[in-house]
Amino acid sequence: MADRGDAANPLSLLGHYCLPMRTHVVDHPLVAHKLTVLRDIDTDSPTFRSLADELVTLLAYEATRDVRVEPVDIVTPVSPTTGTKLASPRPLVVPILRAGLGMLDGMMRLLPTAEVGFLGMIRNEETLEASTYAERLPEDLSGRQCYVLDPMLATGGTLAAAIKFLTDRGADHITAICLLAAPEGCARLEKDLEGLDVPVTIVTAAMDEKLNDKGYIVPGLGDAGDRLYGVV
Ligand code: URA
Repeated sequence: MADRGDAANPLSLLGHYCLPMRTHVVDHPLVAHKLTVLRDIDTDSPTFRSLADELVTLLAYEATRDVRVEPVDIVTPVSPTTGTKLASPRPLVVPILRAGLGMLDGMMRLLPTAEVGFLGMIRNEETLEASTYAERLPEDLSGRQCYVLDPMLATGGTLAAAIKFLTDRGADHITAICLLAAPEGCARLEKDLEGLDVPVTIVTAAMDEKLNDKGYIVPGLGDAGDRLYGVV
């Protein structure tokens, strides 16, 4: 599970973990089924929202394999025993506005005691560069595990900027959950996050073929925000 991938060729990461950034493509028939319906141009917004929600919960199950836990002593109706509970501080879930909001409920279903912070990032459609337009996060994220929700890892600019924002505040463990990823975005993350002394893992339902000249993932699923919330 700890195979080192070829950073110059993100497709080599399929099904592998890679250090320092690890990419994990979740290989499960239910994930593939739900993703196929999401991709379909004929899937309407209500169905898209509910399937995205279900898909995130499946991805979250894989993404939380490294969640920090601690032992706890409890008493069952039969005997005392030692169990496991989530460690403190609690994990922080960070949806990137706006499309990441469509992933929040699916994530919180598995981590109901997590805290939620918000990060508004916008991509300039000409330069494709990302900038922060809103944030509601603790000033000090020291020792925090963060789960970033961003449906489309396309150019990688938004996610790289978000991860840097969180690690600049002290976050020491980052997992990004993306419905889809493109090789170009993974390569950009590898480059932008080079030297970062924080483990970063990307968990996604599929590594698609490429980006088109407008920065959309191919074959992709279109504009995730528009499909979740309409063109506003
Ligand atoms: N953002 C989207 O919503 N879709 C893409 O394909 C790329 C970026």
